[in-house]
Amino acid sequence: MLAASGFGVFSSSVEVDAVLVLSALRNEDAATLHWNTLEAARSVKATSRRIVLLQSAVAPSGLDGLSRTLRKEWPQSEIFSWTLPEDRTLWPQLTTHALSAGYGDGQLLSEGQQLSPALGELLSPALITPQPSATWLVTGGARGVTAACAIALAEQAGGTILLAGRSAETPWPEDLPVTQDLKALRGLLAARPRAPGVRISPSELDRTARALLAGAEIRDTLAAIRSTGAVAEYITMDAGDAASVDRALSAAQARFGPIRGIVHGAGVLADRLADEKTEAELRRVFAPKVNGLENILRNIHPSQLSHIAFFSSAAAFFGNRGQSDYAMANALLANAAHRLTSEAPDLRIKVFHWGPWAGGMVDAALATHFEAQGIPLIPIEEGARIFATELLAGDPAQIELVVGEAWPAG
Ligand SMILES: NC(=O)c1ccc[n+]([C@@H]2O[C@H](COP(=O)([O-])OP(=O)(O)OC[C@H]3O[C@@H](n4cnc5c(N)ncnc54)[C@H](OP(=O)(O)O)[C@@H]3O)[C@@H](O)[C@H]2O)c1
Repeated sequence: MLAASGFGVFSSSVEVDAVLVLSALRNEDAATLHWNTLEAARSVKATSRRIVLLQSAVAPSGLDGLSRTLRKEWPQSEIFSWTLPEDRTLWPQLTTHALSAGYGDGQLLSEGQQLSPALGELLSPALITPQPSATWLVTGGARGVTAACAIALAEQAGGTILLAGRSAETPWPEDLPVTQDLKALRGLLAARPRAPGVRISPSELDRTARALLAGAEIRDTLAAIRSTGAVAEYITMDAGDAASVDRALSAAQARFGPIRGIVHGAGVLADRLADEKTEAELRRVFAPKVNGLENILRNIHPSQLSHIAFFSSAAAFFGNRGQSDYAMANALLANAAHRLTSEAPDLRIKVFHWGPWAGGMVDAALATHFEAQGIPLIPIEEGARIFATELLAGDPAQIELVVGEAWPAG
């Protein structure tokens, strides 16, 4: 038996062969739509052998990231995502055929024809060509692994690099010795002389220490970029907040001229298995990446751009336990990239599905998790070099790149 589900409304105790989840075909904001799809999949998982998540090629979504992750979290279910063509009259025939043919993830082009996603290849660094100076926006570029990439971009392309993040450029107090060690800094702050009776809570100490380290990291990145001869500025901007992006980008473009290149590296994690995932977590993960992209493109029309880079994760390509929201948000960026290329064919656009780096959001626990699976970490300098080389000189026809080793199934 076959059933189709609109939202999480489908509930049946009857065992069905396959459920088609249609929620991503509705016209809703990205986080709502992806949350509804996850909920719908959860609600039919007990009663359906196969779950097929349908997305449309017209409005990019990230359900391929969800199907890859759920296959790892729900090994007892068969889960796929299919991308359907614009012409809705083809859908019944295409999906019926794809079900009987047992297609996996991919784009349904016509009956009997499916385009499967493929692993990208990396090109040789020898292909670097100089780029004219331009103004770049690098979200998340003052800190984490995107900072290393922004420095490599400055080395190879020059121009003006605008680094955007939420953190303030908090100055380092003169009375404190410089350190990059969070624990040591908390200790130094706790030992500072204070007026009698003034107490500082451990959470306040932690917040202050993190703010100081963020400020120092921002200044270090600015200095490293300036040492290459490029211009570097930091702008405080919350990518997920429309008003903040409007304000920051209109001021930046008034001062530095039109932005010609975007590197969208802002991102956060909220890992938890799909069965326990909350809507708030999904929204937190979608905010910088997906809302961030929408907010940025409202201020910067693709026709003014020569380059875009999206920082995605290998989790979007292979799926990763605990990262259904992150895999969807990143897969959505990849699907949006294909859409942008078809709208602006001269735009050079690259989606980096990064494997784990030796830094940034990969803390010691995550590093151990990946190493236990035999997935090596990307050295910072190597990843940054690959980024700049691929963005500036890689094959323009190759949009998606998986950087690092293939991840094991299951
Ligand atoms: N590290 C890895 O192994 C790895 C692997 C795959 C993909 N990636 C991707 O690479 C990118 C950078 O990751 P990372 O490891 O460097 O993470 P990270 O160390 O946690 O840094 C995240 C960066 O994003 C910025 N950011 C977060 N939310 C933001 C918002 N709402 N608006 C503006 N900026 C925001 C942060 O700056 P503020 O805190 O100052 O806002 C920071 O610069 C992410 O998109 C991530 O998904 C990383």
